[in-house]
Amino acid sequence: MEIIGIDVGFGFTKVTNGRKSLCFKSVLGETTDIQFSTGLGNKEIVDNLHVSVDGKGYFIGDFAIAQSSVRQFTLDQERLLEDFLPVLSLTAAGLFAEEGITLNVVTGLPVVFLKQDYEKMIKAMSGKHQLVYHWPDGSRESRDVTINGVQIMPQPLGTVFGLLMDENGRLVNRGMADKKIGVVDIGFRTTDFLVFDRMSYIERSSSTVDMGMSRSFMAISEKLKRESGVQVELYRLYEAVEKGTIQIRGKEYHIANLRDRVFARAAEELAGEIGRLWSDEWDMHGVILTGGGSQALSSFLAPKLEIPVLPTLEKVTDPRFYNVDGYLRFGKSKWRKTPVPLPSATAVPASAAAESSATPSSAAGRS
Ligand SMILES: Nc1ncnc2c1ncn2[C@@H]1O[C@H](COP(=O)(O)OP(=O)(O)OP(=O)(O)O)[C@@H](O)[C@H]1O
Ligand SMILES: [Mg+2]
Repeated sequence: MEIIGIDVGFGFTKVTNGRKSLCFKSVLGETTDIQFSTGLGNKEIVDNLHVSVDGKGYFIGDFAIAQSSVRQFTLDQERLLEDFLPVLSLTAAGLFAEEGITLNVVTGLPVVFLKQDYEKMIKAMSGKHQLVYHWPDGSRESRDVTINGVQIMPQPLGTVFGLLMDENGRLVNRGMADKKIGVVDIGFRTTDFLVFDRMSYIERSSSTVDMGMSRSFMAISEKLKRESGVQVELYRLYEAVEKGTIQIRGKEYHIANLRDRVFARAAEELAGEIGRLWSDEWDMHGVILTGGGSQALSSFLAPKLEIPVLPTLEKVTDPRFYNVDGYLRFGKSKWRKTPVPLPSATAVPASAAAESSATPSSAAGRS
């Protein structure tokens, strides 16, 4: 049995088994017959995802962006869950599934969708699935993937478990045991807020808002449309936003100043939201910034907050992986052979933690 963490986000799908972490864009494309392969292109797995999931073929992530005529990307929770999550999560799981191995998966949902969607999510992922990976050299690899247990938690809690536990799921950071900490998870569509108080998840002060990075990306895309006449899809802007320039029809457009302005405005709006949501939480020790958007916004956001920003995991340098890394650590604690009891935190209350009936009962008893 192998344990993996999977985080299907609106922007990126992240997956880790502790030895290897992978990330690809949450974009699906129709397959086309590619008649010739130069053999010279990028051979990275995540750049060449052509997968059949239970009999239906897809191009995924950058491969779909490069090769599919019809591509799909969504900022709608229902569509993400119904149409994208099964394909993206199984594709991610299959990358770590050696033939015949059963997987246990830890994953998450935005705070406000947890109750509503966890059953659908478990249903979409559980059971036996057939995957076929078509590699650029023309070879095919067929993998039967069996997902046995699925544990779901509010997404930002992954970052908390990442700080609390070591790679084997042992509770090592006892300094957090008597503290109250806020987590701000800035994703592509959503920003999630979560309060973790003396090892318990506090529902009252946890919430989700539509204030992810896509709003800033939309403002940049609109400006480019006005200047160049081309509507650049949001998922084709990541590299340009990072670099500060983009080439459209051979002309270079400078977007660094605009980017910094929209990021500063986004940080201001988020700081306002945090101030309102946590106005009563004056006893909070500090706040952890997580999610890919925290990389871009933390320098604008930190000075605007009335709470100190706490350091995050040193070993994981890309904050897009903070949640999924913690999912895995939690999974290791939950499904290890000789469980080490954790304080009340495993601490995700019944309404906040859901698991499939296939989960071992010893672990279930500790939720
Ligand atoms: N190397 C990178 N490449 C692309 N984007 C990056 C990178 N590093 C940070 N980012 C930022 O990460 C953001 C996506 O973060 P993340 O993967 O946490 O979102 P998500 O989980 O897909 O979205 P959501 O939580 O809303 O579902 C991008 O909008 C971008 O601003
Ligand atoms: Mg996310």
